[in-house]
Parts: sequence; structure tokens; C-alpha cells
Amino acid sequence: MLDRFIRLLNDGEIVAFPTETVYGLGADAWNPSAIKKVFARKGRPSDNPLIVHVASIQSVDPFALDISDDARKLMHHFWPGPLTLIFKKKPAVLDLVTAGLDTVAIRWPSHPLSQELIARTGPLVAPSANSSGKPSPTKPEHVREDFGDDFPVIDAGETAIGLESTVLDVSQEPYRIYRPGAITAREIEDVIHKNILTVSSDNQEAAAKSPGTKYTHYAPDAAVRWLGADELPHDPDTLYLLHSRLPEQQGDNVISYAGDFRKLGHELYDRFRQADHQGYRTVAIEVFTADQHDSLVPALVNRIQKAAGSKQ
Ligand code: TXA
Ligand code: MG
Repeated sequence: MLDRFIRLLNDGEIVAFPTETVYGLGADAWNPSAIKKVFARKGRPSDNPLIVHVASIQSVDPFALDISDDARKLMHHFWPGPLTLIFKKKPAVLDLVTAGLDTVAIRWPSHPLSQELIARTGPLVAPSANSSGKPSPTKPEHVREDFGDDFPVIDAGETAIGLESTVLDVSQEPYRIYRPGAITAREIEDVIHKNILTVSSDNQEAAAKSPGTKYTHYAPDAAVRWLGADELPHDPDTLYLLHSRLPEQQGDNVISYAGDFRKLGHELYDRFRQADHQGYRTVAIEVFTADQHDSLVPALVNRIQKAAGSKQ
């Protein structure tokens, strides 16, 4: 099933493939002309670096310098899985991949098809397979919506998690999370017994070190905003996503997740895209409160803030 896609990638073409988080737009990590196609197809700013996707721990060696014991523990514990690690880079790594930074981001995705693909092609750079500024794709239809019906997509249905990987910088201490994801600071701390900082994206340092965090991402054309705790879902032009309350008014435009944050994370980007197809002017998402401790909450809050255009 993968043969055609492997041939394309070996020929320097770009292919969308499933991971456990979102669909990625893959290109050979050592082929500059293939990588240029990724930036061109997405309309991605050239100062935003890419994640190298591997299918073994030893595949990190040609890219990363100074792999610490902590980094090794994290790779052994969380890989394959939704954790991207940032290392100091080796000189041979293409500047196109790292956007000229002296670090490189690497992860080993767990989806079986991505593992087989990368094992057979070698390392692939892969940003999310959406046009820059659109919500990340969690279904093959989303990729085709952005890149056209003929675009090569390895179709594996919906992705499992639906939000992008946690990005953790282990190139300097204290280690820092630039983008929260399904793997939390707490889980990382439990493995290496060190405190992890979470750097918010309005922070100058985060913007300089992880340029992707400074762009408004993940946004539908509809406006995204928080729904206040006391506010009722009564506007027919708004799509409401509620997580704790059961809606007083049921309707096509009022969706209740009843405390299931995994499901909200899994569906969030698809709901954003649906809101545009169905002509909603606004998507209003019930605010999160301090007593909501699900491990996906920091990632959800981060993505919703970004979609709302906030610099938080
Ligand atoms: O779950 C994911 O990570 C997905 C799937 C396809 O693996 N990929 C993804 O890639 O979300 P992308 O390009 O949409 O986001 C990569 C993020 C950006 O915020 C970028 O700035 C950051 O990782 N990044 C990449 N290289 C970096 C580096 N050397 N230093 C700091 N941040 C880096
Ligand atoms: Mg992206």
C-alpha cells in the first residue's frame, strides 16, 4: 500500500501521511528541493523550522549533538509518541529544516503507517499538512480541502489525538515546553525528576527560540472566542462547544462533551472546519476552570487561545 508513496518521497516529492496527532506533510529530511516544496505548498514562513520524523532512537544521531542522559530517558519512555525533542544540531543538518537555528526538533511518531513509511524512506521533515494558518488536519479530507483532490495522502481515517505533539527543548537547562500537547510537563518531570518550564507564546524568548509559536495558527474563518461561565448558548450563528455543562438548549449548534476532554481534543480542528462549511460566524468554547485537571487541558487552552488570536 505504501509503495507508491515511498517512490514519490524517494523522488523528492511531498506526501501527506497520518501520525497519532495530526496528518504530516512529509519530505526527505536531506533533500533541499523537496523541503522547499513543503514550504511552498503550505505557504509557510521560512523562519518557522520543521520537525524531523524518525522511526528509531539511533536515527537521531545524524541530526543531534550532545544527547544527554535525560534526553535518552525521555526518548526511551515516550517514543514512539507525541513528544518532540529539541537538540543542539549537527552542522550537516540543512538550514532549511532548522530555519537557521542552532537546534533541531525531532520526534518518532507512533502511528503504525508512519513508522513503516519512515523506516523505509529514512527521516522525513513533516509540518502539519494544512495550509499555513488553517487548522491542522485530523482527516484525509482536510488535507485534500487545503491541497486539492489529487494530492497524495496516505489515508488512514481520523488521527487518534487530534492536537499536535508536545514540543520540549532539552538543548539547555531548565528544559522548556514551547508547545503543550498530550504529554504533559508533569509526566516529563516524573521521568527525569527535574522541573520543566512552560514558556508561553507571548514570551519573546519562546518566539525567538520556537518561531512557530508566534504565529496565529489553527484558526477557522469563523471568529473563535470563549463562552463565559454564565453565558447562555442562544445565538443561532454561533457553534457552541461545551465541556462541563449539559446544554439547556440542545440544537445542531450546541455540542456538549460532558467532561470528555479527549473527545474535544480529537474533534476540535474538525469542528473548526465544519463551522466554516456550515457558515457559522463564531465558535464559542466554554471556558476552562481551575478544577479541570485533565492532562489534555493545557494543550486545548493553548490551541483555543491561538485560534482566538490571543497572544497568550
Ligand atoms: O504533532 C506534530 O508535531 C505534527 C505531526 C505532523 O508530527 N507536526 C507539527 O509540525 O505540528 P508543525 O511544523 O506544524 O509544528 C512544529 C512546531 C512549530 O511550532 C515550530 O516552530 C517548532 O515545532 N519547532 C521546530 N523546530 C524547532 C526548533 N529547532 N526549535 C524550536 N522550535 C522548533
Ligand atoms: Mg502546524
